[in-house]
Amino acid sequence: MISVSLLWALYALLATVLNGAHASVTVYSQQPLAAASPTTTASGTIYTGLAVYDPLVLSPPPIPNPPPSTQFGITLQNSASNVGGLSIPLSGTFYGFSVEMSVVTQVLGLNASFLQVPFLNLMSLVASRAGAVYIRVGGNTQDYASLVPSLGDGKSIEKQQTGNGNPTQTPTLLFTPEILYMLSNISSLVNAKWYLGVPMNDTSNLRLQIAEYGERILGDKLLGLQVGNEPDLYARHGHRPSTYGPYDYFGEFGQIALALEQDSAVPVSNNLIGPSVATGDWHPEDVWNTGFIQAYSNNLLALSVEHYPDDNCAAIYPGFGTPKDPQAEFANFLTHSAGRDTIGYLLNSAAIAQQAGKPFIMFETNTASCGGFPGISDSFGAALWALDYGLQMAYSNFSHALLHVGGQDVYYNPFTPPPTNQSVYHQWTIGPIFYSVLAVAEALGPTNNSQIIDLFANGNSDETPGYAIYENGNLARVALFNYMTDPSGANDYVATLSMGDAVVPAQVQVKYLLAPSVGEHFNITWANQTFGGQFGADGRLQGTEYIQTVACDTGANACQVRVPAPGFALVFMTNDALEEATPTSTATFATTAYTKTMNTASIDPSVLATSNGHSGKDLQLGSTSSGSICNIHGLLYVVVGVEDWRWCAG
Ligand SMILES: *[C@@H]1O[C@H](CO)[C@@H](O)[C@H](O)[C@H]1NC(C)=O
Ligand SMILES: *[C@@H]1O[C@H](CO)[C@@H](O)[C@H](O)[C@H]1NC(C)=O
Ligand SMILES: *[C@@H]1O[C@H](CO)[C@@H](O)[C@H](O)[C@H]1NC(C)=O
Ligand SMILES: *[C@@H]1O[C@H](CO)[C@@H](O)[C@H](O)[C@H]1NC(C)=O
Ligand SMILES: *[C@@H]1O[C@H](CO)[C@@H](O)[C@H](O)[C@H]1NC(C)=O
Ligand SMILES: *[C@@H]1O[C@H](CO)[C@@H](O)[C@H](O)[C@H]1NC(C)=O
Ligand SMILES: *[C@@H]1O[C@H](CO)[C@@H](O)[C@H](O)[C@H]1NC(C)=O
Ligand SMILES: *[C@@H]1O[C@H](CO)[C@@H](O)[C@H](O)[C@H]1NC(C)=O
Repeated sequence: MISVSLLWALYALLATVLNGAHASVTVYSQQPLAAASPTTTASGTIYTGLAVYDPLVLSPPPIPNPPPSTQFGITLQNSASNVGGLSIPLSGTFYGFSVEMSVVTQVLGLNASFLQVPFLNLMSLVASRAGAVYIRVGGNTQDYASLVPSLGDGKSIEKQQTGNGNPTQTPTLLFTPEILYMLSNISSLVNAKWYLGVPMNDTSNLRLQIAEYGERILGDKLLGLQVGNEPDLYARHGHRPSTYGPYDYFGEFGQIALALEQDSAVPVSNNLIGPSVATGDWHPEDVWNTGFIQAYSNNLLALSVEHYPDDNCAAIYPGFGTPKDPQAEFANFLTHSAGRDTIGYLLNSAAIAQQAGKPFIMFETNTASCGGFPGISDSFGAALWALDYGLQMAYSNFSHALLHVGGQDVYYNPFTPPPTNQSVYHQWTIGPIFYSVLAVAEALGPTNNSQIIDLFANGNSDETPGYAIYENGNLARVALFNYMTDPSGANDYVATLSMGDAVVPAQVQVKYLLAPSVGEHFNITWANQTFGGQFGADGRLQGTEYIQTVACDTGANACQVRVPAPGFALVFMTNDALEEATPTSTATFATTAYTKTMNTASIDPSVLATSNGHSGKDLQLGSTSSGSICNIHGLLYVVVGVEDWRWCAG
């Protein structure tokens, strides 16, 4: 195995080339990150533990001077036909998750009969609001993955350093069909649908087994197959010659598309996704200009990109210059412009996709590459940012976006299992951006027929943005943000909603996403429910749901909605809009796992039959036994000889 110092040297070299690009980079065989590097700027103390448990709390940025108005009106149209510039029809599945293939056994389960219960519970929360949850299993490792019939010791996945000739030392990832059965079993419990990737490291020896087995085992739970992951970085990473360009990718995509068409074991071959450029070395336009869309129109399910708005690489790797100061970066995330600016250069591609009749997917994103920022990525501010960014992508005619899930050594996870050696007594830690996924699911709802518009509210203030969401042609919900933090209440605002083409209803209902400060990590509530603190979650919402009723003045055609500083309010304009996105009960699952402290419980097969719906009033689903916390059995072992720094630090 290559030595750590040699790797650092290699990485420094690579970093010099990479500097400036917001690419997602995973380097394998590196020593655990957090144990080695000071990770925070907290005064006086330097935290050296796992990133995901970094306690750094940042101060909220000051209130702008002059502050935005705290009393303003928003005139809405009740009928979508009176509104110009609405998005394409969207689904509540808009936000999904991207899970690096090499870490599925930590997050999803060890094998098809050993699933991570908190993961099931979390996915169930999304699916019960959106109708389904979309999950991508892939990433850098997908290109070097190989499906094998079996592995020793009953393992379902194993990484090997076989000396793959590339500087990032991407290991060979061997996996068995058990992994696909695991995904299938998850889908039989919650309505999860999957994106997989066809390995592309060697197009003269194609490995199409993931398509063959994936389609057979997952059937219509398989959404599509990614062909190529960040191909614009292949040359930099040494996975292709330095001359590798968009036309080379075009050619290789064609080879794979043709091989899939000709493979009788692959019944569906029009489900491919590309180009998934990292928008590092190529612009998406460089690929469109090859004629990619026209040439492969019959093979393409969707067009994709991967992008992070910022990077924290300098804090981790030499060669990137002075590390950024999280406190200084924080304010950049706490404005409406943040999301807009991040995707501004992709609007042309979104329009091109729409014209071609293809969905446009942000296949991988989060706050910042290289693990995110301490104090930012794990803050309530990030929850507001992710919510606004998601709705902004929706308004900009993206079809979906997938939030990346890393390991213990990143700050930005929507959810994180406890470290391996603590899994018998600790539970999961839910990141603030998971709340954003729930709120986006509710904002867009389960009908697949939502359209959204940016309201440019309060004179297009950067601190107090808003959106209106139409469903089946009528105003359904209004989303209102307050990015400011002011415990005195002086910067809470009151928006007065009125209608231009109708009279407001007698009352509206409001769900709030709240925390005392944008710097807060854990005291976060959605409609008064929470996932609790560090190690505090079994994947179910805790506490009593509270939905506020606001009486409107129909005579004055006005509903006054208060939005605390900081906070987010989702205003439901009709009862239907509320009920369809508010599950009265959510399927929850008892642990299947052996633990030292609890009896095992296996999933009741009757649950399988009933757990896919939403708003299932009548569902009496197996929940954990009373008084018990859903103890999680995590990993029993770390795959020998493998150091994926994103996961093995525990
Ligand atoms: C699944 O993993 C559990 C825990 O390691 C193990 O006990 C069980 O035998 C495995 N099942 C299969 C079918 O490999
Ligand atoms: C999961 O998949 C396996 C096949 O690997 C099957 O035998 C098992 O019954 C399934 N379990 C559940 C809970 O669906
Ligand atoms: C491609 O990946 C496979 C599986 O990891 C590996 O066996 C093979 O050597 C790789 N080929 C190239 C050209 O990198
Ligand atoms: C999104 O697409 C719709 C329908 O084509 C269009 O009217 C709207 O202007 C687009 N939005 C943006 C932000 O480009
Ligand atoms: C929404 O779309 C999904 C996927 O196309 C489909 O399975 C689901 O039935 C649709 N929901 C509604 C309410 O039409
Ligand atoms: C949690 O935040 C709320 C405001 O969102 C505040 O009222 C409450 O006191 C906080 N609780 C704790 C324990 O900090
Ligand atoms: C919010 O939740 C807490 C904890 O579950 C509960 O005590 C409180 O009554 C709830 N608030 C409302 C207004 O329902
Ligand atoms: C878990 O493992 C880490 C790293 O090896 C170690 O620092 C920590 O003390 C262990 N924790 C427990 C509770 O064993």
